[in-house]
Amino acid sequence: MHLEFLSLGMLGGGLLGGAGIGSLFYKRLQKQLRKQGYQINTIEQLYNEVQRSSLRLDQNYLETIEALVRALEARDMYTRGHSDRVNQYSVAIAKKLNLSETEIEEIHHGSLLHDIGKIGVYDHILLKPQALTDEEFEMMKSHPQLGVEILGSVESLKKHVPIILHHHERQDGSGYPLGLKGDEIPLGARIVQVADTWDAMRSDRPYRRRLDLEIAVGRLREASGTQLDPNCVDAFLAAVNSKTGRVLSA
Ligand SMILES: [Fe+2]
Repeated sequence: MHLEFLSLGMLGGGLLGGAGIGSLFYKRLQKQLRKQGYQINTIEQLYNEVQRSSLRLDQNYLETIEALVRALEARDMYTRGHSDRVNQYSVAIAKKLNLSETEIEEIHHGSLLHDIGKIGVYDHILLKPQALTDEEFEMMKSHPQLGVEILGSVESLKKHVPIILHHHERQDGSGYPLGLKGDEIPLGARIVQVADTWDAMRSDRPYRRRLDLEIAVGRLREASGTQLDPNCVDAFLAAVNSKTGRVLSA
């Protein structure tokens, strides 16, 4: 039903925005709509209905992302808030890089979902209060692929796969899962890497305290060009207040 509305509505919207509607065509369309059982008197009403349906779809889409992120964070109290902070930093970097509105929106949603594969990691690893052993770390490293398995078949969410799959790659090729280098890594993933690295350094863990601001900035600079994309690091440092570490308003 929605799809039918959508295609007819786009037709109506296009015509309404154009030179006008030929009366013969308009009558034919009304007749056709009546035949199909729609209780709609004008194309304008149809167009408005499409607009409302589209808003509902957008709302459902955002609510789906929100529910997935909250499901992840409900499992792991130590990473609670991590997705939101990475999201805030990622969007700030994207804006500093002057990306388009569409790209910024994709980074906004993709960064929220970047760690969604952790839903599939065993509790004794995900919730372990000490540092992971090598073997446990190898299992934790499966979360990008697990994320793709969870979301890769969902039509409206599969566009976020590049961020989910590649957010642990590194500029020098030493990351995972594929060991991509430099620009082989999708830009969204390079942005999230910087945001993720920063949040990891600036968050307390049960087995270590967070780094002081100056030390964290120094580490980020050291990693620029080897682990992290230098342009994304520069954009991040330009987007945060050097005294507080808070994101400056764009
Ligand atoms: Fe991750």
